[in-house]
Amino acid sequence: MKVLLTGGTGYIGSHTAVELINTGKDIAIVDSLINSNEDVVERIKQITGKEPKFYKTDILDKEAIDKIFAENEIDAVIHFAGLKAVGESVEKPLEYYYNNIMGTLTLLDVMRKHNCKKIVFSSSATVYGDPGVPRLVETMGRRTPTNPYGATKAMIEKILEDLYISDNSWKITILRYFNPIGAHESGLLGDNPNGIPNNLMPYIQKVAIGELEKLHVFGDDYETKDGTGVRDYIHVVDLAKGHILALEKLLSADGGVEKYNLGTGCGYSVLELVKTFEKVNNIKIPYVIDERRPGDIAACYADASKAEAELGWKATKTLEDMCRDSWRYIQMNK
Ligand code: NAD
Ligand code: UD1
Repeated sequence: MKVLLTGGTGYIGSHTAVELINTGKDIAIVDSLINSNEDVVERIKQITGKEPKFYKTDILDKEAIDKIFAENEIDAVIHFAGLKAVGESVEKPLEYYYNNIMGTLTLLDVMRKHNCKKIVFSSSATVYGDPGVPRLVETMGRRTPTNPYGATKAMIEKILEDLYISDNSWKITILRYFNPIGAHESGLLGDNPNGIPNNLMPYIQKVAIGELEKLHVFGDDYETKDGTGVRDYIHVVDLAKGHILALEKLLSADGGVEKYNLGTGCGYSVLELVKTFEKVNNIKIPYVIDERRPGDIAACYADASKAEAELGWKATKTLEDMCRDSWRYIQMNK
């Protein structure tokens, strides 16, 4: 039983690699390192005692991917590889469509050739768009996302659905992540994007270590508990564990396309996150209130009951855990 992780040296992929190794799975990682570092492979070994096989390869390189499948008996793929910065995707739509869509098509074509028809795909709550209610459930349809990054997620979901219609021996699981934050408790794995971060927790981390002066809170006039945006923050280790259960279910399934929300089911506001970070880490996060960010919705959180009922998965880590682990990671990896 071997599982290939595309994008496995990235933030979510690396945490999932650890959980897979800890549950006795044999894994291989393919990553172009466009947004991660090879030292993650060594860090995975430090945590688990096992070094995963690593290929520094772009999934767009069909010949190289074909060779990886020829060399390894791969039973299933967890497909994390993709570009993920929303703002950058607006500036570079062609690069985003090319990398995310073509990369996935290339991967699927090679998988089909090698008769490997089991895939777990990293999607996002962004595919729900703004349905007008905060609690998002899998039975809601996709709505056109407002940016190219989100559009690639929605398109890949559709590609996977069409692939299954054409050949129902495929087993496909689509995981819609809410807002992953936190880090591995060892402090060895986490999220540390280059440049000025777009997302809230990476920005708070940079303010906490003094690299940025203050947080800009995007709007305090939403119809939410304190006027700031509400999201479902989920600890990356809980998220990683969701992949293990999703994979187990997939392996025993007859075929089909299943979608699961991976979130805690709870919404926290921007200011609640800031206050919790300050309290558990005993550090001040200066902030100012700014204009709303275009494209943001007021509030969203997961209805996570399908994942609980069908996968036996439930997030267990608290907002305090997420804030503590994010702070530990950034201090150790400035
Ligand atoms: P990440 O950038 O840390 O990891 C993605 C990895 O994919 C990186 O290591 C990058 O080098 C690699 N990669 C990108 N294009 C590649 C290519 N063509 N060939 C090979 N490797 C390539 O991002 P992450 O946060 O770990 O996200 C993993 C997946 O989950 C992505 O598909 C992302 O869109 C999705 N997702 C992330 C979030 C989030 O908030 N982090 C939310 C929803 C969905
Ligand atoms: C964003 C993306 C989403 C993507 C997800 C994970 C947008 C519109 N959406 O989600 O497509 O799947 O990241 O990569 O970009 N905030 C601040 N100040 C900041 C940053 C954020 O106040 O400096 C607020 C936001 O307004 C929001 C909350 O914090 O209310 C969370 O923002 P963020 O971390 O960027 O995630 P999302 O917008 O939910």
